[in-house]
Amino acid sequence: MSISKVDICCGLNWGDEAKGKLVAHLVKNNHYDYVCRWAGGNNAGHTIYVDGKKYKTHLIPSGVFYNVKSIIGPDCVVNPESFMGELNYLRENGFDTSLIKISPKAHIVTETHINEDKEKYKDQGTTSNGIAPCYKDKYGRKGIRAESVDSLKDYLWDEMLEGNVLCEGAQGFWLDINYGNYPFVTSSTTLPYGACCLGFPPQKIDKIYGASKIYDTRSGTDPLFPESLLEDPELMSIVKAGGEIGTTTGRIRKTNWLNLDKLIVALNITGVTDIIISKIDVLEKVGLYKLFHNSDIICFENMEEMQTYITTTISGTCDYVKTISYSGNVEGI
Ligand code: IMP
Ligand code: MG
Repeated sequence: MSISKVDICCGLNWGDEAKGKLVAHLVKNNHYDYVCRWAGGNNAGHTIYVDGKKYKTHLIPSGVFYNVKSIIGPDCVVNPESFMGELNYLRENGFDTSLIKISPKAHIVTETHINEDKEKYKDQGTTSNGIAPCYKDKYGRKGIRAESVDSLKDYLWDEMLEGNVLCEGAQGFWLDINYGNYPFVTSSTTLPYGACCLGFPPQKIDKIYGASKIYDTRSGTDPLFPESLLEDPELMSIVKAGGEIGTTTGRIRKTNWLNLDKLIVALNITGVTDIIISKIDVLEKVGLYKLFHNSDIICFENMEEMQTYITTTISGTCDYVKTISYSGNVEGI
């Protein structure tokens, strides 16, 4: 069997766009033979609800929650200890961990990488998981690959993908190593083209799902999100209503109104075909409806007005987008 089609799910903001929920929704409603992570490591944080119970993962793709083979791809970085911890957590909760595989080409995060991250990258507000030092060694051709680590032997998988494949993005467009606000970025490619490193040609890509929130958040340091945002009472009411605390770091996420100009750039560069905008209920709860467009702030009377504006603007500026959905209208999101 060869590859039938590939769907990709990516984040359009700064991570934390409910990609986990979107992937869960896609896996439940489509048939996939594989769910794959194409980049990053345990710097990511996915929250998944299965039968009403909340689960958190950082590296292992969400396919395992739905009995689908889950692959950690060649451009990912793996911390063996944290991987084993996640594996045991999933096993203890009754999930079939034999579905989880790692590319032998994935790189290993070592204790030295983690220490270097903590010492030298503090000012960038990283997740302190050794991500930048590990990719630095990889691209400097001094890294350690998963194929040489004994404890991972049973999980290695270097075969061809087949059938229907879902690629699960980590982080988001504006954390991308090329497109983000460098050096306040992560060290990998968060854009859908990066998914091709899993071993399929671009022609196989069918749908590209993009997750966005209806307001922007940033965990970690970024001059585009100054500390002063934490003093704005309206924005802080969103933090509170939206529970905007980092899954991986426990930090308060700096929050701002949706930057529609940036979202349009992200949509046009990623080629997203289906956008899902979430956390609608949060703005409804606080009763504030604002966004930035053409560098101006625009205020709306209600959510309906705001959605009409977003839908009309995206439809007029983003040729690849075929569907625009909002949470509340999509099951599980
Ligand atoms: P690193 O990936 O740990 O090196 O962190 C680099 C930057 O990306 C920091 O600002 C982190 O807060 C941010 N970051 C990395 N992964 C995520 C994520 O999954 N969600 C949100 N922010 C992230
Ligand atoms: Mg996340």
